[in-house]
This record gives sequence, C-alpha cells and structure tokens, in this order.
Amino acid sequence: MSNIRCIGICTGGGDAPGLNAVIRAAVKTAFLKYKWRVIGIPDGFDGLIWPEKSYELTLKHVSGILPRGGTILGTTNRGNPFRFSSSENGQECVRDISDQVIANTRKLGIDAVVSIGGDGSQTIALELFQRGMKIVGVPKTIDNDLSATEVTFGFDTALTTATDAVDKIHTTAESHHRVMVVEVMGRDAGWIALEAGIAGGAHVILIPEIPFSIEGVCKFVTERESYGKRFTIVVVAEGVKLPPELKENRRAGAVANLIGNAISVTAKKEVRVSVLGHIQRGGSPTAYDRILATRFGVAAVDLIAAGGFGRMVCLKNECIDSVDIADAIGRTKMVDPEGQLVQTARSIGVCFGDC
Ligand code: F6P
Repeated sequence: MSNIRCIGICTGGGDAPGLNAVIRAAVKTAFLKYKWRVIGIPDGFDGLIWPEKSYELTLKHVSGILPRGGTILGTTNRGNPFRFSSSENGQECVRDISDQVIANTRKLGIDAVVSIGGDGSQTIALELFQRGMKIVGVPKTIDNDLSATEVTFGFDTALTTATDAVDKIHTTAESHHRVMVVEVMGRDAGWIALEAGIAGGAHVILIPEIPFSIEGVCKFVTERESYGKRFTIVVVAEGVKLPPELKENRRAGAVANLIGNAISVTAKKEVRVSVLGHIQRGGSPTAYDRILATRFGVAAVDLIAAGGFGRMVCLKNECIDSVDIADAIGRTKMVDPEGQLVQTARSIGVCFGDC
C-alpha cells in the first residue's frame, strides 16, 4: 500500500502537442483511481523555486484541455535548480539550489512528482531523484529522438503539420517552376524531415544523419528538368550538417536560406524558402498523440503508486513500459541511414544529396 497522498506535476523544456493530455490523464488517474490530491507546478522546476506559484489542480482545471496545444502549467527550457542563475551586485552568479527545491516540495505537501519533459528535464529529474526526491518521468519531444521510447507524443502532430505544409508547397512550386526549400524542426535527428518528406512527396530530403553536397542536390534538380519536371521540393531538417562551404554562415533558422541560395547559384533556378519553425509545435494534438499522451499520463501515476521512482514511462513494442531515467538520458535516437525508411525513400527516387 503506497503512502502517497499528494503528487505534483510539472512540464519542462520546449512544449509539444499532447502535454495537456498527459496532465489531464495524470490528474484524473490520481484523483479518481487513487484519491490523491494533485499540485500543478508552473514553468517546469522553476515552480519549485517559487512554491507560492503552485496551485491545486482539480478535475475542473483539466476539463476541456485534451485538444489544446501547449501546456496549462507553462514551461521553460532554462530553469535548472542545479545551475540556478541570478544576478548579484550586477554579476551573474550560478548556484545549486536543489536543496531549496526539495524542501519546497515537502512544504507544498507533495509526496512525489511527475516530470514531463525531454532529455534536459529528465536529467534534472534524475539528479533530484538522486538527492531523495520521489520522481517519475514522462518523455516528450516533437523531434522523436529519445532512444528509450519508440515514440514521443507531439511527433505525430508536428509531422502532420509539416506534411500539410509540403502538400501546400507543391502547387505553388509546380505553377512557378521553382525549387522550394522547406525547413522543418529536428535539432539533432532527421525524423520529421524524413517522414514529412516521404508523406508529402518531397523530391529531396536533407537530414543530419546523411552528409550531402550542393552539387548532389543540383545534379538531381537538373536531371529532373531534363525529363520535364521543372520544380523540386527539398525538405531539410534544421539540424542538417552543412557542407564546409556553407558552414561558417550557419545561424538558427538560416539553414534553409543558405541551402536555397547555394542551389539558386549552382543550378541557376529560382528558389523560395519556407521555415516552418514553431508552427510545428503548436495546434491541437492528433488523435494518435492524444492517446499516447493519455497512456503516458495514466502510466506515470501508476508508476508512482507502484513505487517506481527514478523511472520514466516509455513505449516498447507498442506497449507502455518504463525504464530507469539513468538509462534513458543522453541517448539520441538517430535515423539509420541504411534503415528501411531511408531505403524506401531511395527506392521511389528521393535524393538525399549524397550522390
Ligand atoms: O526539441 C524540440 C525543438 O522543437 C527542436 O526541434 C528545436 O530545435 C528546438 O526545440 C527549438 O527550441 P526553442 O523553442 O527554444 O527555440
């Protein structure tokens, strides 16, 4: 029999569609299945630095939030209690205030915490666990690049948004006989680019896992021209590794423009660039993401009831499971350049800029 009476929930790192579905499922499970109270911790672990901002989450708070993007709790990708940064006498000072955070958690009457977040948030969760906090993790990132889980919620929604954008780009590209470069998210891995590229019928897909050259892309564009295809759609992941001649000008959000300019100079084609950016993180979660997020929210509360602290829920063989957070962090799931998805794309003539 668990001696939990009250749990806290926080969301950290970049938002992802489905966060509210996790919160809703966790609150409902805690309240209806276990009769526990739930405290909403605002803005990631920051809410435990300033505990007066935390508040009781009731069924009323989570009513109607299932289809909403973002997180009702707010989030930040800066708050780290082990490296808390403040200004003292005009000087930036970095301190470890984790003891204060743990003490505040107790003051709030929270017996255990559900930390919903990506690699950075789970790393903090692990350190707090090692200092004695009862904590469980729920993985989150639209990039779908966490090795410990087959899928993260938010990915399917981002993929749907990116695919829709590539669909829309098609008609204008074809009408104007242009090369259209579409930049999608994916800081380290190319999952969104690869899958949106395949689903949207892109002709070129550029991802961090496959080195490419501008010559390779332009040769392909010119070949298409030679058999009457006067337009080309290039989907590029923001984290793509740029060829040496473009590297020094790299800036966030500028990758597609650099590639687009280089294609226009080398292939002598009119090029237009669309950077989808945070549109991919917004909007209502797809049915798939709502279901996965709900399963994760329920599983996280069940994990607390079972005493599985220091663990993170995950999806394994399409079933809910859990792993030690220590084994889950710092392991990025990259696209396999020789894997089935890449091979499928190559078989239908998609160019990865490497030939
Ligand atoms: O990790 C998710 C992600 O959306 C990445 O794809 C992207 O590089 C990053 O977050 C953007 O973060 P921010 O919202 O801080 O600009």
